[in-house]
Amino acid sequence: MFKHSSSLTKNKILELMGTMEIPQLSKWTLLGIGVVLYVGLVQTLRFRSLRNLTKTYAAYLHDPYSLDYKTAHQIMKRVILYETPWMYAFGTQWALIKTYTVATGTGLLVQTRQLTSDSTVGKRAEDTGVILTEFLIGSMDSDRGSKALAKMNWMHRRYGNKIKQPELLHTLAMFVLEPIRWLNDREWRPLTELEKVAIFVYWKEIGNRMGIRDIPDTLEELEIWTAEYTKKNVYFTKNNKLCADSTMRLFLRDVPLFMRGFAQHAAVSLFEERSRLALGYEKPPRWIARLVATAFHIRRIIIRHFFLPRLHELDPLAKPDSTGRLYRDTWAFEPWYVKATVKSWLQGWFWTSGKVLPGPKYKSNGFLVEELGPVEYEQSSKEPVAKEAEEMQAYASKGGAVVLGCPFSSVGYPPKYGA
Ligand code: HEM
Repeated sequence: MFKHSSSLTKNKILELMGTMEIPQLSKWTLLGIGVVLYVGLVQTLRFRSLRNLTKTYAAYLHDPYSLDYKTAHQIMKRVILYETPWMYAFGTQWALIKTYTVATGTGLLVQTRQLTSDSTVGKRAEDTGVILTEFLIGSMDSDRGSKALAKMNWMHRRYGNKIKQPELLHTLAMFVLEPIRWLNDREWRPLTELEKVAIFVYWKEIGNRMGIRDIPDTLEELEIWTAEYTKKNVYFTKNNKLCADSTMRLFLRDVPLFMRGFAQHAAVSLFEERSRLALGYEKPPRWIARLVATAFHIRRIIIRHFFLPRLHELDPLAKPDSTGRLYRDTWAFEPWYVKATVKSWLQGWFWTSGKVLPGPKYKSNGFLVEELGPVEYEQSSKEPVAKEAEEMQAYASKGGAVVLGCPFSSVGYPPKYGA
Protein backbone atom coordinates (compact mmCIF):
# COMPACT_ATOMS: atom_id res chain seq x y z
CA MET A 1 0.00 0.00 0.00
CA PHE A 2 2.81 2.36 1.00
CA LYS A 3 4.82 1.43 -2.07
CA HIS A 4 1.78 2.02 -4.27
CA SER A 5 1.22 5.61 -3.00
CA SER A 6 4.90 6.56 -3.41
CA SER A 7 4.94 5.44 -7.07
CA LEU A 8 1.76 7.47 -7.54
CA THR A 9 3.49 10.62 -6.21
CA LYS A 10 6.47 9.94 -8.41
CA ASN A 11 4.25 9.71 -11.47
CA LYS A 12 2.56 12.98 -10.54
CA ILE A 13 5.85 14.75 -10.21
CA LEU A 14 7.00 13.47 -13.58
CA GLU A 15 3.72 14.59 -15.11
CA LEU A 16 4.08 18.03 -13.60
CA MET A 17 7.65 18.34 -14.80
CA GLY A 18 6.51 17.46 -18.27
CA THR A 19 4.10 20.39 -18.30
CA MET A 20 6.61 22.86 -16.73
CA GLU A 21 8.28 25.34 -18.98
CA ILE A 22 12.02 25.48 -18.47
CA PRO A 23 13.10 29.07 -19.17
CA GLN A 24 15.35 29.27 -22.23
CA LEU A 25 18.46 31.21 -21.21
CA SER A 26 20.47 32.89 -23.89
CA LYS A 27 24.15 32.05 -24.07
CA TRP A 28 24.95 35.58 -22.87
CA THR A 29 22.83 35.14 -19.75
CA LEU A 30 24.51 31.81 -19.07
CA LEU A 31 27.91 33.41 -19.59
CA GLY A 32 26.94 36.26 -17.24
CA ILE A 33 25.86 33.81 -14.53
CA GLY A 34 29.11 31.89 -15.02
CA VAL A 35 31.19 35.06 -14.67
CA VAL A 36 29.30 36.19 -11.55
CA LEU A 37 29.75 32.76 -9.94
CA TYR A 38 33.44 32.69 -10.87
CA VAL A 39 34.10 36.21 -9.55
CA GLY A 40 32.26 35.27 -6.32
CA LEU A 41 34.44 32.17 -6.01
CA VAL A 42 37.61 34.23 -6.58
CA GLN A 43 36.51 36.75 -3.93
CA THR A 44 35.84 34.02 -1.40
CA LEU A 45 39.05 32.09 -2.01
CA ARG A 46 41.34 35.11 -2.50
CA PHE A 47 40.69 36.41 1.00
CA ARG A 48 40.53 33.00 2.69
CA SER A 49 44.21 32.98 3.59
CA LEU A 50 43.95 36.48 5.09
CA ARG A 51 40.89 35.44 7.12
CA ASN A 52 42.77 32.40 8.44
CA LEU A 53 45.79 34.51 9.28
CA THR A 54 43.67 37.03 11.16
CA LYS A 55 41.97 34.22 13.09
CA THR A 56 45.20 32.40 13.92
CA TYR A 57 46.95 35.54 15.19
CA ALA A 58 43.89 37.26 16.68
CA ALA A 59 45.71 37.64 20.01
CA TYR A 60 48.15 40.09 18.41
CA LEU A 61 45.63 42.26 16.57
CA HIS A 62 45.16 44.79 19.34
CA ASP A 63 48.93 45.22 19.73
CA PRO A 64 50.95 43.86 16.78
CA TYR A 65 54.15 45.05 18.46
CA SER A 66 53.69 42.31 21.04
CA LEU A 67 54.70 39.86 18.27
CA ASP A 68 57.90 37.95 19.02
CA TYR A 69 60.22 37.57 16.04
CA LYS A 70 59.43 33.86 15.57
CA THR A 71 55.68 34.47 15.26
CA ALA A 72 56.39 37.53 13.12
CA HIS A 73 58.42 35.26 10.84
CA GLN A 74 55.46 32.95 10.23
CA ILE A 75 53.27 35.90 9.22
CA MET A 76 55.96 37.46 7.06
CA LYS A 77 56.62 34.18 5.24
CA ARG A 78 52.93 33.92 4.37
CA VAL A 79 53.15 37.35 2.72
CA ILE A 80 56.37 36.60 0.84
CA LEU A 81 55.68 33.03 -0.23
CA TYR A 82 51.94 32.94 -0.74
CA GLU A 83 50.13 36.27 -0.82
CA THR A 84 52.37 38.55 -2.85
CA PRO A 85 55.69 36.88 -3.82
CA TRP A 86 56.32 38.66 -7.08
CA MET A 87 55.68 42.17 -5.87
CA TYR A 88 57.57 41.57 -2.63
CA ALA A 89 60.63 40.45 -4.60
CA PHE A 90 60.36 43.51 -6.82
CA GLY A 91 60.05 45.80 -3.80
CA THR A 92 63.19 44.23 -2.30
CA GLN A 93 65.11 44.76 -5.56
CA TRP A 94 64.10 48.40 -5.49
CA ALA A 95 65.09 48.61 -1.84
CA LEU A 96 68.58 47.49 -2.87
CA ILE A 97 68.87 50.10 -5.60
CA LYS A 98 67.55 52.79 -3.27
CA THR A 99 70.40 52.10 -0.87
CA TYR A 100 72.65 53.52 -3.62
CA THR A 101 71.03 56.92 -3.12
CA VAL A 102 72.99 57.45 0.11
CA ALA A 103 75.90 59.60 -0.93
CA THR A 104 78.28 58.50 1.85
CA GLY A 105 77.68 54.77 1.28
CA THR A 106 78.40 54.25 -2.39
CA GLY A 107 82.10 55.18 -2.23
CA LEU A 108 82.88 51.88 -0.53
CA LEU A 109 80.70 49.90 -2.93
CA VAL A 110 82.56 51.40 -5.89
CA GLN A 111 85.89 50.72 -4.19
CA THR A 112 85.22 46.97 -3.71
CA ARG A 113 84.14 46.74 -7.40
CA GLN A 114 81.88 43.75 -6.67
CA LEU A 115 78.87 45.77 -7.66
CA THR A 116 80.22 48.01 -10.36
CA SER A 117 82.14 45.54 -12.51
CA ASP A 118 80.02 43.77 -15.13
CA SER A 119 81.96 40.56 -14.47
CA THR A 120 81.00 40.37 -10.77
CA VAL A 121 77.69 42.24 -10.49
CA GLY A 122 75.67 39.13 -11.45
CA LYS A 123 77.26 37.00 -8.73
CA ARG A 124 76.96 39.84 -6.21
CA ALA A 125 73.22 40.11 -6.95
CA GLU A 126 72.61 36.34 -6.82
CA ASP A 127 74.67 35.91 -3.63
CA THR A 128 72.77 38.73 -1.97
CA GLY A 129 69.51 37.02 -2.97
CA VAL A 130 70.68 33.62 -1.70
CA ILE A 131 71.94 35.01 1.63
CA LEU A 132 68.76 37.00 2.25
CA THR A 133 66.62 33.99 1.30
CA GLU A 134 68.46 31.80 3.81
CA PHE A 135 67.59 33.96 6.80
CA LEU A 136 64.36 35.57 5.58
CA ILE A 137 62.68 32.44 4.27
CA GLY A 138 64.68 29.79 6.11
CA SER A 139 65.22 31.03 9.61
CA MET A 140 67.93 33.12 11.21
CA ASP A 141 67.96 30.55 14.04
CA SER A 142 68.65 27.55 11.79
CA ASP A 143 72.16 26.32 11.05
CA ARG A 144 71.98 27.59 7.47
CA GLY A 145 70.26 30.87 8.35
CA SER A 146 72.65 31.76 11.14
CA LYS A 147 75.63 30.96 8.91
CA ALA A 148 74.21 33.22 6.20
CA LEU A 149 73.77 36.05 8.67
CA ALA A 150 77.20 35.42 10.14
CA LYS A 151 78.79 35.47 6.68
CA MET A 152 77.10 38.77 5.90
CA ASN A 153 78.33 40.18 9.22
CA TRP A 154 81.81 38.88 8.49
CA MET A 155 81.86 40.68 5.13
CA HIS A 156 80.62 43.93 6.66
CA ARG A 157 83.04 43.72 9.57
CA ARG A 158 86.00 43.57 7.18
CA TYR A 159 85.30 47.21 6.36
CA GLY A 160 85.21 48.33 10.02
CA ASN A 161 84.25 51.96 10.44
CA LYS A 162 83.87 52.50 6.69
CA ILE A 163 80.27 51.30 7.11
CA LYS A 164 78.52 53.71 9.45
CA GLN A 165 75.68 52.92 11.82
CA PRO A 166 73.17 55.31 10.19
CA GLU A 167 73.95 53.77 6.77
CA LEU A 168 73.21 50.31 8.14
CA LEU A 169 69.96 51.53 9.67
CA HIS A 170 68.96 53.24 6.42
CA THR A 171 69.57 50.02 4.46
CA LEU A 172 67.52 48.09 7.02
CA ALA A 173 64.75 50.69 6.68
CA MET A 174 64.76 50.24 2.90
CA PHE A 175 64.37 46.47 3.25
CA VAL A 176 61.36 47.03 5.53
CA LEU A 177 59.68 50.08 4.04
CA GLU A 178 60.21 49.65 0.32
CA PRO A 179 58.44 46.27 -0.13
CA ILE A 180 55.60 47.58 2.07
CA ARG A 181 55.35 50.68 -0.15
CA TRP A 182 55.34 48.55 -3.30
CA LEU A 183 52.63 46.29 -1.97
CA ASN A 184 50.50 49.19 -0.75
CA ASP A 185 50.76 51.10 -4.02
CA ARG A 186 50.60 48.29 -6.54
CA GLU A 187 49.51 44.91 -5.16
CA TRP A 188 46.00 43.41 -5.34
CA ARG A 189 45.50 44.27 -1.68
CA PRO A 190 47.39 46.43 0.79
CA LEU A 191 49.04 44.73 3.75
CA THR A 192 47.26 44.73 7.09
CA GLU A 193 48.84 46.41 10.12
CA LEU A 194 49.67 42.96 11.54
CA GLU A 195 51.52 41.96 8.36
CA LYS A 196 53.46 45.24 8.17
CA VAL A 197 54.50 45.08 11.80
CA ALA A 198 55.48 41.41 11.40
CA ILE A 199 57.92 42.37 8.62
CA PHE A 200 59.33 45.13 10.82
CA VAL A 201 59.68 42.89 13.90
CA TYR A 202 61.55 40.15 12.02
CA TRP A 203 63.90 42.63 10.34
CA LYS A 204 64.50 44.36 13.66
CA GLU A 205 65.83 41.09 15.09
CA ILE A 206 68.05 40.71 12.01
CA GLY A 207 69.28 44.25 12.64
CA ASN A 208 70.04 43.37 16.27
CA ARG A 209 72.14 40.44 15.14
CA MET A 210 73.97 42.68 12.69
CA GLY A 211 74.87 45.00 15.54
CA ILE A 212 72.71 47.85 14.26
CA ARG A 213 72.04 50.19 17.17
CA ASP A 214 69.11 52.45 17.99
CA ILE A 215 66.61 50.78 15.69
CA PRO A 216 63.32 52.63 16.31
CA ASP A 217 60.60 50.76 18.21
CA THR A 218 57.79 51.16 15.70
CA LEU A 219 57.28 51.36 11.97
CA GLU A 220 56.05 54.95 12.25
CA GLU A 221 59.23 55.96 14.09
CA LEU A 222 61.33 54.16 11.47
CA GLU A 223 59.51 56.10 8.74
CA ILE A 224 60.12 59.40 10.50
CA TRP A 225 63.80 58.56 11.04
CA THR A 226 64.17 57.58 7.37
CA ALA A 227 62.51 60.77 6.12
CA GLU A 228 64.88 62.88 8.23
CA TYR A 229 67.93 60.87 7.18
CA THR A 230 66.90 61.09 3.52
CA LYS A 231 66.67 64.89 3.65
CA LYS A 232 70.31 65.18 4.66
CA ASN A 233 71.99 62.18 3.05
CA VAL A 234 70.23 61.36 -0.19
CA TYR A 235 71.73 63.42 -2.98
CA PHE A 236 73.54 62.83 -6.26
CA THR A 237 77.13 61.63 -6.47
CA LYS A 238 78.96 59.95 -9.35
CA ASN A 239 79.41 56.85 -7.19
CA ASN A 240 75.64 56.52 -6.68
CA LYS A 241 75.24 56.53 -10.45
CA LEU A 242 78.00 53.97 -11.02
CA CYS A 243 76.30 51.54 -8.60
CA ALA A 244 72.82 52.13 -10.00
CA ASP A 245 73.97 51.93 -13.64
CA SER A 246 75.67 48.55 -13.27
CA THR A 247 72.61 47.11 -11.53
CA MET A 248 70.33 48.61 -14.17
CA ARG A 249 72.50 47.08 -16.94
CA LEU A 250 72.11 43.72 -15.20
CA PHE A 251 68.32 44.15 -14.98
CA LEU A 252 68.04 45.00 -18.66
CA ARG A 253 70.61 42.56 -20.00
CA ASP A 254 68.06 40.19 -21.50
CA VAL A 255 65.82 42.91 -22.90
CA PRO A 256 66.20 43.19 -26.73
CA LEU A 257 68.42 46.14 -27.68
CA PHE A 258 65.69 48.12 -29.42
CA MET A 259 63.55 47.97 -26.23
CA ARG A 260 66.25 48.91 -23.72
CA GLY A 261 65.72 52.68 -23.73
CA PHE A 262 62.02 52.21 -23.14
CA ALA A 263 62.60 49.56 -20.45
CA GLN A 264 65.04 51.81 -18.59
CA HIS A 265 62.59 54.72 -18.60
CA ALA A 266 59.89 52.33 -17.35
CA ALA A 267 62.14 51.14 -14.52
CA VAL A 268 63.18 54.69 -13.58
CA SER A 269 59.53 55.77 -13.45
CA LEU A 270 59.17 53.51 -10.40
CA PHE A 271 61.47 55.72 -8.27
CA GLU A 272 60.22 58.74 -6.39
CA GLU A 273 61.66 62.06 -7.56
CA ARG A 274 64.32 62.37 -4.84
CA SER A 275 65.72 58.87 -5.44
CA ARG A 276 65.72 59.37 -9.20
CA LEU A 277 67.71 62.58 -8.88
CA ALA A 278 70.14 61.02 -6.40
CA LEU A 279 70.83 58.21 -8.88
CA GLY A 280 71.30 60.67 -11.73
CA TYR A 281 68.55 59.45 -14.06
CA GLU A 282 66.70 61.84 -16.34
CA LYS A 283 62.95 62.18 -15.90
CA PRO A 284 61.20 59.49 -17.97
CA PRO A 285 58.68 60.70 -20.60
CA ARG A 286 55.28 61.20 -18.99
CA TRP A 287 53.56 58.72 -21.32
CA ILE A 288 55.90 55.91 -20.25
CA ALA A 289 55.34 56.67 -16.56
CA ARG A 290 51.58 56.64 -17.16
CA LEU A 291 51.75 53.41 -19.15
CA VAL A 292 53.68 51.66 -16.36
CA ALA A 293 51.29 52.92 -13.67
CA THR A 294 48.29 51.82 -15.76
CA ALA A 295 49.81 48.37 -16.35
CA PHE A 296 50.20 47.88 -12.60
CA HIS A 297 46.66 49.14 -12.03
CA ILE A 298 45.23 46.69 -14.56
CA ARG A 299 47.27 43.88 -13.05
CA ARG A 300 45.88 44.74 -9.62
CA ILE A 301 42.25 44.59 -10.87
CA ILE A 302 42.75 41.36 -12.81
CA ILE A 303 44.45 39.55 -9.94
CA ARG A 304 42.04 40.78 -7.30
CA HIS A 305 38.87 39.91 -9.21
CA PHE A 306 39.72 37.22 -11.71
CA PHE A 307 42.69 35.16 -10.51
CA LEU A 308 42.20 32.25 -8.15
CA PRO A 309 44.83 32.24 -5.41
CA ARG A 310 47.88 30.03 -5.82
CA LEU A 311 47.52 26.47 -4.55
CA HIS A 312 50.52 26.41 -2.25
CA GLU A 313 53.41 28.50 -0.94
CA LEU A 314 56.50 28.92 -3.11
CA ASP A 315 59.67 27.19 -1.96
CA PRO A 316 62.70 29.21 -3.07
CA LEU A 317 65.20 27.66 -0.64
CA ALA A 318 68.10 25.76 -2.17
CA LYS A 319 67.89 21.98 -1.71
CA PRO A 320 70.76 19.83 -0.37
CA ASP A 321 72.12 16.71 -2.08
CA SER A 322 73.40 13.69 -0.14
CA THR A 323 76.73 15.45 0.58
CA GLY A 324 75.04 18.53 2.02
CA ARG A 325 75.90 20.85 -0.87
CA LEU A 326 73.00 23.12 -1.80
CA TYR A 327 71.44 23.68 -5.22
CA ARG A 328 68.99 26.26 -6.49
CA ASP A 329 66.42 25.59 -9.18
CA THR A 330 65.56 29.19 -10.05
CA TRP A 331 67.64 32.32 -10.54
CA ALA A 332 67.15 36.00 -11.27
CA PHE A 333 70.05 37.04 -13.53
CA GLU A 334 72.72 34.33 -13.63
CA PRO A 335 72.27 30.62 -12.83
CA TRP A 336 74.68 30.48 -9.88
CA TYR A 337 74.58 27.15 -7.95
CA VAL A 338 72.07 25.62 -10.39
CA LYS A 339 72.70 22.01 -11.47
CA ALA A 340 73.20 21.68 -15.20
CA THR A 341 70.21 19.58 -16.20
CA VAL A 342 68.08 19.47 -19.34
CA LYS A 343 65.41 21.51 -17.54
CA SER A 344 67.81 24.24 -16.34
CA TRP A 345 69.46 24.40 -19.79
CA LEU A 346 66.08 24.83 -21.45
CA GLN A 347 65.27 27.58 -18.94
CA GLY A 348 68.56 29.29 -19.80
CA TRP A 349 67.83 29.05 -23.51
CA PHE A 350 64.34 30.36 -23.03
CA TRP A 351 65.37 33.44 -21.02
CA THR A 352 68.71 34.32 -22.59
CA SER A 353 68.74 32.55 -25.97
CA GLY A 354 71.55 30.37 -24.66
CA LYS A 355 73.86 33.27 -23.66
CA VAL A 356 73.77 32.43 -19.93
CA LEU A 357 73.55 28.72 -19.14
CA PRO A 358 74.14 26.72 -15.92
CA GLY A 359 77.59 25.14 -15.81
CA PRO A 360 80.95 25.19 -13.95
CA LYS A 361 81.33 28.96 -14.64
CA TYR A 362 78.32 29.47 -12.36
CA LYS A 363 79.30 26.80 -9.83
CA SER A 364 76.89 24.12 -10.93
CA ASN A 365 78.43 22.00 -8.14
CA GLY A 366 76.31 23.95 -5.63
CA PHE A 367 77.34 25.83 -2.50
CA LEU A 368 77.73 25.74 1.25
CA VAL A 369 76.28 28.82 2.93
CA GLU A 370 79.61 29.87 4.41
CA GLU A 371 81.16 29.93 0.90
CA LEU A 372 78.79 32.60 -0.42
CA GLY A 373 80.09 36.06 -1.29
CA PRO A 374 83.25 37.12 -3.14
CA VAL A 375 85.32 34.03 -4.10
CA GLU A 376 88.55 35.40 -2.64
CA TYR A 377 87.15 35.08 0.92
CA GLU A 378 85.58 31.67 0.45
CA GLN A 379 88.16 29.74 2.47
CA SER A 380 89.44 32.37 4.91
CA SER A 381 85.95 33.17 6.22
CA LYS A 382 84.85 29.57 6.88
CA GLU A 383 86.11 29.22 10.43
CA PRO A 384 85.10 32.62 11.84
CA VAL A 385 81.69 32.34 10.17
CA ALA A 386 81.06 28.90 11.69
CA LYS A 387 82.10 30.27 15.11
CA GLU A 388 79.84 33.32 14.87
CA ALA A 389 76.93 31.17 13.71
CA GLU A 390 77.36 28.96 16.77
CA GLU A 391 77.40 31.99 19.07
CA MET A 392 74.35 33.35 17.33
CA GLN A 393 72.48 30.10 17.83
CA ALA A 394 73.40 30.12 21.52
CA TYR A 395 72.17 33.72 21.77
CA ALA A 396 68.93 32.74 19.99
CA SER A 397 68.35 29.72 22.22
CA LYS A 398 68.36 32.06 25.22
CA GLY A 399 65.56 34.09 23.65
CA GLY A 400 67.39 36.51 21.33
CA ALA A 401 67.07 40.24 21.72
CA VAL A 402 63.63 39.96 23.31
CA VAL A 403 65.21 38.58 26.46
CA LEU A 404 68.82 39.67 26.18
CA GLY A 405 68.42 43.07 24.59
CA CYS A 406 70.68 44.21 21.81
CA PRO A 407 73.45 41.62 21.24
CA PHE A 408 75.97 44.44 21.33
CA SER A 409 75.78 45.19 25.01
CA SER A 410 74.43 42.14 26.75
CA VAL A 411 76.06 38.92 25.63
CA GLY A 412 79.01 40.43 23.81
CA TYR A 413 77.77 38.66 20.70
CA PRO A 414 80.12 39.66 17.82
CA PRO A 415 78.95 42.46 15.55
CA LYS A 416 81.25 45.38 16.17
CA TYR A 417 81.50 47.76 13.26
CA GLY A 418 80.27 51.17 12.31
CA ALA A 419 80.87 54.36 14.23
C1 HEM B 1 70.52 46.06 6.73
C2 HEM B 1 71.65 46.40 6.14
C3 HEM B 1 72.39 45.56 5.15
C4 HEM B 1 72.12 44.32 4.66
C5 HEM B 1 70.92 43.39 4.99
C6 HEM B 1 73.20 43.97 3.77
C7 HEM B 1 73.28 42.80 3.05
C8 HEM B 1 74.44 42.36 2.45
C9 HEM B 1 74.60 41.05 1.86
C10 HEM B 1 73.52 40.00 1.75
C11 HEM B 1 75.88 40.97 1.41
C12 HEM B 1 76.53 39.79 0.69
C13 HEM B 1 76.70 40.08 -0.77
C14 HEM B 1 77.57 39.09 -1.47
O1 HEM B 1 77.50 37.93 -1.12
O2 HEM B 1 78.32 39.44 -2.37
C15 HEM B 1 76.54 42.21 1.72
C16 HEM B 1 77.84 42.50 1.42
C17 HEM B 1 78.38 43.74 1.52
N1 HEM B 1 77.75 44.87 1.99
FE1 HEM B 1 75.95 44.94 2.89
N2 HEM B 1 74.08 45.02 3.72
C18 HEM B 1 73.63 46.01 4.54
C19 HEM B 1 74.21 47.24 4.71
C20 HEM B 1 75.35 47.66 4.08
C21 HEM B 1 75.86 49.00 4.08
C22 HEM B 1 75.19 50.19 4.76
C23 HEM B 1 77.02 49.00 3.36
C24 HEM B 1 77.93 50.12 3.02
C25 HEM B 1 77.63 51.28 2.70
C26 HEM B 1 77.25 47.64 2.92
C27 HEM B 1 78.33 47.21 2.19
C28 HEM B 1 78.61 45.91 1.86
C29 HEM B 1 79.87 45.45 1.30
C30 HEM B 1 81.07 46.30 0.99
C31 HEM B 1 79.72 44.08 1.09
C32 HEM B 1 80.78 43.08 0.57
C33 HEM B 1 80.54 42.74 -0.86
C34 HEM B 1 80.99 43.88 -1.74
O3 HEM B 1 82.18 44.16 -1.77
O4 HEM B 1 80.14 44.52 -2.37
N3 HEM B 1 76.21 46.86 3.36
N4 HEM B 1 75.64 43.04 2.34
